[in-house]
Amino acid sequence: MNRKEALNSVKANVEDKNLVKHMLATEAIMRALAKRLGEDGEEWGLTGLLHDIDVELTAGDMSSHSKLGADLVKELGASETMAHAILSHNEAHGIPRETKLDKALFCVDPLTGLITAAALVRPDKKLAGLEAKSIIKKFKQKSFAAGVSREQISLCSEIELELGEFIELGLRAMQGIADDLGL
Ligand SMILES: [Fe+2]
Repeated sequence: MNRKEALNSVKANVEDKNLVKHMLATEAIMRALAKRLGEDGEEWGLTGLLHDIDVELTAGDMSSHSKLGADLVKELGASETMAHAILSHNEAHGIPRETKLDKALFCVDPLTGLITAAALVRPDKKLAGLEAKSIIKKFKQKSFAAGVSREQISLCSEIELELGEFIELGLRAMQGIADDLGL
């Protein structure tokens, strides 16, 4: 499976533009993270791109979300490693996160929401002028984007990244695809 095929499958299964943007943002951060950690950028990026492919198909049913996704991506030709990361990113299944890829996807997932929310409260609603330190401040304000799990983002410690570096890396990665994100 190449990136074009992966993106086509995402678009075929997901109508919500914001959800597609969330997956693009996750992909960008996963690629940057793989580079930082000396991992396979294509594998990590495509895992990020595909991770919520079943959200609309499962219509919010958390007991099937990510199970269907893992099966779907395997049909598309994804590796077992990729499918496991997708499967275990939904905590509802109680499947332990074992590999670095599992752990990375889990902490990156909510980071895209925090960064997007931080961009949207700016007067220009753009990522360009946003600074990591401002996101870190908002990370500490529990009332800001309250649905974003700080605990989950903090699990970047499991892939040996300090929170500040993780947020900075995420911001730079999303800035790199700002046009695609409309931010
Ligand atoms: Fe997600």
